Amino acid sequence: LPEGIKQMMEAHELLKKFYHHLLLNTKEGQEALEYLLGRGFTEETIKKFQIGYSLDSWDFVYKFLTKRGFSSKRLEEAGLIIMRERDGTYFDRFRNRIMFPILDHQGNTIAFSGRALGEDEPKYMNSPETAIFNKSKILYNFHSSRPQIRKKEQVVLFEGFADCISAVAAGIDHSVATMGTSLTPQHIDLIKRNTSNVLICYDSDSAGITAADRASTMLQEAGLSIKVALMPDNLDPDDYIKKYGATSFVTDVIGASLTATGFRLQFLRRGKNLTNEGDRIQYIEAALREISRLGNAVERDYYLRQLSSEFTLSLDALEQQQRQIFYAEK
Ligand code: CTP
Ligand code: MN
Ligand code: MN
Ligand code: MN
Ligand code: MN
Repeated sequence: LPEGIKQMMEAHELLKKFYHHLLLNTKEGQEALEYLLGRGFTEETIKKFQIGYSLDSWDFVYKFLTKRGFSSKRLEEAGLIIMRERDGTYFDRFRNRIMFPILDHQGNTIAFSGRALGEDEPKYMNSPETAIFNKSKILYNFHSSRPQIRKKEQVVLFEGFADCISAVAAGIDHSVATMGTSLTPQHIDLIKRNTSNVLICYDSDSAGITAADRASTMLQEAGLSIKVALMPDNLDPDDYIKKYGATSFVTDVIGASLTATGFRLQFLRRGKNLTNEGDRIQYIEAALREISRLGNAVERDYYLRQLSSEFTLSLDALEQQQRQIFYAEK
């Protein structure tokens, strides 16, 4: 590796260890630690993910790292400090935040995401794109979950750090998360090199469900087999685990995940009032279109029977209509 790259990684490594120490062992880190414990993160989890705390200071990182021989130019390139326009002095990017270290796929620490302790905005502040950090290529926790992903022949995909961490603590150790970006073709390539089965477990709010629909389409187009897990009441996976427990998450969310078609049918129901005749007819049409895309006759039959029983329609009529759609779209 070029010297500059090595230095940027070393700076992150040193800082990660110090942030972690501040969180666990100092008075300054106490409020942050209480926040995390209050959210249900255990000390074991905090250690496993090397979570830390950045001091409420404008120049702690600057001093800590320049004292250890790093040039301000290097630290700025690494995204750890920012130059003031007016006088060319520097200030720390991350202040008074819970620090999640981000590792590359070889295990080098290459970036941070810092969460505000309370309701401060922005909720998460991330390292910028640098020579060592490219958000659209990195999946959070991939380095540590890769062996489990290969062994279980599946990856579970989350949209947030907290979700991924709570899922691992709940025993779903083949978990990764995208970091505030939507899934990219590079993420998909990476997944594809390790498994062909993806379980999407995004937030069950409107944004999350829309993102899950987009991700499932992209993954399927890349030839991967997908499932989608949904939670009640707009919850996200971390909320769900805190509210209903790890066992229920494993059984009732992960274990009850939907097939791609099952999820699309759920997705098509969104915002529709199925007691209203117009909405109902629209939904049935859309559902038949979805079903007509299935190559497998047994699967088609399965979903047609579901429709038939839910809306008390004859299976014959549904089959006929489905076939018509199939030939019209060919
Ligand atoms: N995110 C971000 N910047 C924000 C909000 C979100 O980068 N201002 C990214 C983070 O990676 C976050 C993910 O998008 O983990 C999902 O966002 P959200 O669901 O809002 O956050 P949670 O993961 O639920 O965070 P928390 O539980 O800590 O509130
Ligand atoms: Mn390694
Ligand atoms: Mn969300
Ligand atoms: Mn969330
Ligand atoms: Mn959350």
